[in-house]
Amino acid sequence: MNSSNKNIVLMGFMGTGKTSVGKRLASMLGMEFVDMDHVIEARAGKVISRIFAEDGEPRFRQMERELTVELSGRSGLVIGCGGGVVLNPDNVQDYQRTGMVVCLTASAETLFQRTSRARHRPLLEEENRFQRIVDLLEKRKSLYEAIPNRIDTETLSPKEVAEAILRLYQASAG
Ligand code: S3P
Repeated sequence: MNSSNKNIVLMGFMGTGKTSVGKRLASMLGMEFVDMDHVIEARAGKVISRIFAEDGEPRFRQMERELTVELSGRSGLVIGCGGGVVLNPDNVQDYQRTGMVVCLTASAETLFQRTSRARHRPLLEEENRFQRIVDLLEKRKSLYEAIPNRIDTETLSPKEVAEAILRLYQASAG
């Protein structure tokens, strides 16, 4: 079972499956799932695109930072982070201190397909969404690659990804 009770923290680009995998994993382990974006939206009383439009991205990043400090001080959670949490190295460091951080990855083509119908991500609301994904991935590449636990989700179902993380977690709990 879950002897260490440390958090499992899912990072990775938009569309890598953090939320669907996180929910599944939490129910497999009997842990609570927390989606950072949802908490931020609930507290702000508005959706992320409105936060970006009305308050600006820096304010959103500040809210992410504050929530990271709070959640990394708790235990027994499966946490789905927003894709940009890695932009602030303090976030990654805080989560690593009290949890097992896992980065989910996929190719730009797959991320494009997985995000193509959604309209709730302000950073992807560009005319050429595929190019936007390629550019953002390139900018963030080194940040995602710096996370030691990485799972390529390209050919895996959310269930298979959750099972792979479960194995990592059990191995790390000893
Ligand atoms: C963002 C990712 C989004 C959300 C916001 C910004 C990013 O979360 O936090 O739109 O900078 O990558 P998801 O990764 O859950 O889509």
